Amino acid sequence: MELNKRHIVLGVTGGIAAYKAAELVRELQRAGATVQVVMTRAATHFVTPVTFQALSARPVFVDQWDDRIGNNMAHIELSRSADAILIAPASADFIGKLANGLCDDLLGTLCVARECPLLVAPAMNRQMWSNPAVERNVAQLRQDGVTLLGPDSGDQACGEIGLGRMLEPPAIVEELVAFFAPRLLAGRRVVVTAGPTYEAIDPVRGITNRSSGKMGFAVARACRHAGAEVHLVAGPTALPTPAGVTRSDVQSAREMCDAALGACAPGCDIFIAVAAVADWQVTNASARKLKKDEIGSTPELAFAENPDILQTVAGLPNPPYCVGFAAESEDLARNGESKRRRKGVPLLVANIGHETFGLDDNELLLIDEQGTKPLGRASKDELARLLVAEIAGRIGQPVAEDAK
Ligand code: C5P
Repeated sequence: MELNKRHIVLGVTGGIAAYKAAELVRELQRAGATVQVVMTRAATHFVTPVTFQALSARPVFVDQWDDRIGNNMAHIELSRSADAILIAPASADFIGKLANGLCDDLLGTLCVARECPLLVAPAMNRQMWSNPAVERNVAQLRQDGVTLLGPDSGDQACGEIGLGRMLEPPAIVEELVAFFAPRLLAGRRVVVTAGPTYEAIDPVRGITNRSSGKMGFAVARACRHAGAEVHLVAGPTALPTPAGVTRSDVQSAREMCDAALGACAPGCDIFIAVAAVADWQVTNASARKLKKDEIGSTPELAFAENPDILQTVAGLPNPPYCVGFAAESEDLARNGESKRRRKGVPLLVANIGHETFGLDDNELLLIDEQGTKPLGRASKDELARLLVAEIAGRIGQPVAEDAK
C-alpha cells in the first residue's frame, strides 16, 4: 500500500465539503495511512467529531485547551509523529489564517508549530476563490512552501459552476502518494503505450486481445508519481486516466504508432511500450457491415503486418531510452533476450507466466545487457514503482526540474 506507515494529521475546516472528509479518512486508510483528525469549531457544524472518531478509531481534537493530552500541549504533541498535515477541506477563512500564521485555535496552532510538510485542499465558492484577498493568501502559502492540492472545477454546493470545489478524496490521496514518492524521473518526459489495439473488420466487428491496460496504466501512474511528464497512448480500455497524465486514445496499431511517434517527437526521454499490439491488420476491412445473406459464404479476410511501434521508436535517429514488454510462454530469458536484441532496446520486461491479462498482480523479469533480474510477484502498481526505480537507475541522475 502506497501510504503504508504514513501518519497523516487531517485538518477539517468549516465548509460543506467537510462531508467528503469522512470518505477521505477511509481512502487514506485504504492506502495504508493512519489518520489523526483535528477539526475547527466551524467544521463541527457540518460533521460531528463522532463521525471522524468512529472512522479513524482515534479521539478527535477540536479545542486548544483539550486536557486529554497530559501536558496540555496538543498543538505540539499531535503533529510530532505526523508525516504530513493535510487540510481538507480548507476554507477561505482557514487559508487566510495560515497565510498569516494565526494561532487562535488548535488546528491553526498545530500548523504553525509543525515540523512536517503541510498540504492544503481548498474548498469554496468560485467567487471566494477568485477574491483578491484569497488569491493573495494562496500566493503567500505557495511562497511559504505549502503544497496546494486543487481546487477542482465543476458543480458547487451553492448551485454555481466554477473553480473552487475540493478535489475528490481519491484524487487527494493520489496527490499525497505522489508527494511522498521519490522524484526519480523529475524533469523527464515519458511516453507509455498501454492496453490492446483493435483492428476493424467492418464498422461493428474487429480483432482485439484481452489486454486490460492495467500494467501500462500503472506504469504511467508510477512515472507521474516519480515526477515525470507523462503521455499515455491507450488502446480501447475503460480505465480512468491517472491524475496528471496526458492521454491519447487510439484504436488500431497504426493509430497507436502515429500517436506514439507524435508524442515522442518533441524531446521524449523514455519510451515504455506496454501495449499488446495486434501483429496484423485487416487490409480488406469493409466500410459497411458484412451481412451473412449478402456474402453467401464465410468472409475471407486478408492481413498485412502492423508496424512494430517499439522497434520504430528505438530506430529513430535520436531515440529515447526504450523499454519493451514481452509475454513469453517458454524459455523466458533466452527468448526475451533475443527479442530485446531484435527490437534494439536496452531493457525488456518479461511477464512470468502467460496469464496476467486483467489481473491486478503480475510477476516480472528484467532482461538487459547485464543479464536478468527478477522483480518478483506483486501488484501491478508495486511492480510499476520498482520498474521506474530500475529505469531511473539505468538512465542516470534525474535532471533538475527547471533545467528543461
Ligand atoms: O513482438 P512482441 O509483440 O512479443 O513484442 C512485445 C513488445 O513490443 C511490447 O513492448 C509491445 O508493446 C511492443 N510492440 C509494439 N508494436 C508491435 C508489436 C509489439 O510496440 N506491433
